[in-house]
Formats: sequence, structure tokens, C-alpha cells
Amino acid sequence: MGDTRTAHATPAIEIDSLVVARGKGKARKEILHGVTADIPTGSITGLLGPSGCGKTTLIRTIVGAQKITSGAVRVLGQAAGSPSLRSQLAYTSQQLSIYPDITVAENVEYFAALVGADSASAQQALDTVDLEDYADRLVSTLSGGQASRTSLACALVGNPQVLVLDEPTVGLDPLTRQSLWATFRQLAKSGVTLLISSHVMDEARYCDSVLLMREGHFLAHEPLAALQERTSTANAEDAFLALIGSDDGGEV
Ligand SMILES: Nc1ncnc2c1ncn2[C@@H]1O[C@H](COP(=O)(O)OP(=O)(O)O)[C@@H](O)[C@H]1O
Ligand SMILES: [Mg+2]
Repeated sequence: MGDTRTAHATPAIEIDSLVVARGKGKARKEILHGVTADIPTGSITGLLGPSGCGKTTLIRTIVGAQKITSGAVRVLGQAAGSPSLRSQLAYTSQQLSIYPDITVAENVEYFAALVGADSASAQQALDTVDLEDYADRLVSTLSGGQASRTSLACALVGNPQVLVLDEPTVGLDPLTRQSLWATFRQLAKSGVTLLISSHVMDEARYCDSVLLMREGHFLAHEPLAALQERTSTANAEDAFLALIGSDDGGEV
């Protein structure tokens, strides 16, 4: 999976000393406390951390839906939210944003129309997510995995170079999750950059590198194998706990 760092000089996403505050008035608080990371091109980065640590806030910032307090986020060298990124960056939110009362194909074609893509592109997106046989099904009759695939197809219609997926596998059974990750892998192989969030630490094993988050900070950003070796642990969850331990001990 390896040489993304040497093969591509410019990271797909650059997060530079990013501070983000949310809420209004007295309820306003800082959520991201000056985080920095480069997300390499053509690989899968897992944005992992417990609920409430700031994954969605970071993703909203990357897709240009969240105001930056200070610092910067660039996608493909352009400031997050730039209009020129519209066709190059696609995103699925944590809440399913597809329409339940129309078919799979109608959803994908609707999104294709929004980004100015043709129906061949819609068909190709359906093929990529293996939903050809479900094109005429109402979304309301789909399983969770199929609905997640429909969302992904909608994001894929314009052939975006960068895909940001907010907890696309949440609530799905292990087999369905595994097959979705296989689709993400296929996309990465074709050169797409994927940033995928999850609060399930175990999903680190499907990623080229993991960006571990806690309480608005990045704890680590490296391949799982390196993380496990550094923390003398055998899985992502133990590595996370070990890092928190060393954090609290004040050593590092
Ligand atoms: N609209 C909002 N206004 C104020 N605070 C918010 C808002 N949405 C989320 N938060 C807070 O931001 C923090 C991070 O939330 P979020 O980015 O959704 O985390 P995650 O996606 O990792 O679960 C949480 O403390 C949450 O309560
Ligand atoms: Mg979230």
C-alpha cells in the first residue's frame, strides 16, 4: 500500500494549526485546538476517535461547511470551501442525505444533475458500489449497507479526486463493513484520496494510516503497524488507550 509519501509531493489535504470553535454566545467553545496533519494522495486515512472528539467538526471544515477560527485547511492546494473544489471533493455526512421515497437510480441521477454529470456517470457510480441490481429499488426498502452504498454512489458521480466520508460504516454488521471497506480500497487503488471517520477503532486495520483523535487534538498519525509497535500493543484500541495513558502520565 505504501509509497504514497514519496510518489506525491503535495498532500491532498493539508490541515495547518487549525482552531475551530462552535456554538453561540456563552455556549461557544473551542472544539479543535490547533491541529496539524497532511493527508496523502491516493490512500485511505482513517480518522478515528471516540464520539465527541471532533471528527465531524474537522470533516465539516475540510468540506467548507464550518468556519475556521484560526489556521488553515487546503484541499488539492486550494483553501477549503473554494468553489473550484466542488467537482473535486465529495462528502457523505453522518446522517444519510439520500431520499427514501425515490429509487436508488433516481437518487444517483439527482446528484449527478446537481454536479452537472451525465447519466453514464451515474451508471458508473452504481457499478462501482455494486448496486446495479438495486437501481430500481426504493431507498426506503434497502438494508443499512445498501443505503450506505447509495450515499457513496451519490458522492462518486462527478469522479471526485478526494472523498471524505463521515462514519459510513456506523451501525453496520461486520461483513457489510468489510465489503464497504473493500469498495473504499478499490477507489484508493484508482487514485482517489479517502478520509474516512469512525469511532470503531478496529477499522484502523483497513486504512493505510490512522489519524487518532481525542478531545480536539491529534494523538497520532501513522500506519497501524507503526502505531502498534511504538505502543507495544496488538490492536488499535489498545494503542489508543496506551497513548492516552502516556498523555496523562505527562511523559510525552
Ligand atoms: N452545532 C454545535 N454547536 C456547538 N457545539 C457542537 C456542535 N456540534 C457539535 N458540537 C460539539 O463539538 C464537539 C465535537 O463534536 P463532533 O465534531 O460532532 O465529534 P464527533 O464527530 O467526533 O463525534 C462535541 O463536544 C460536541 O458537543
Ligand atoms: Mg461525528
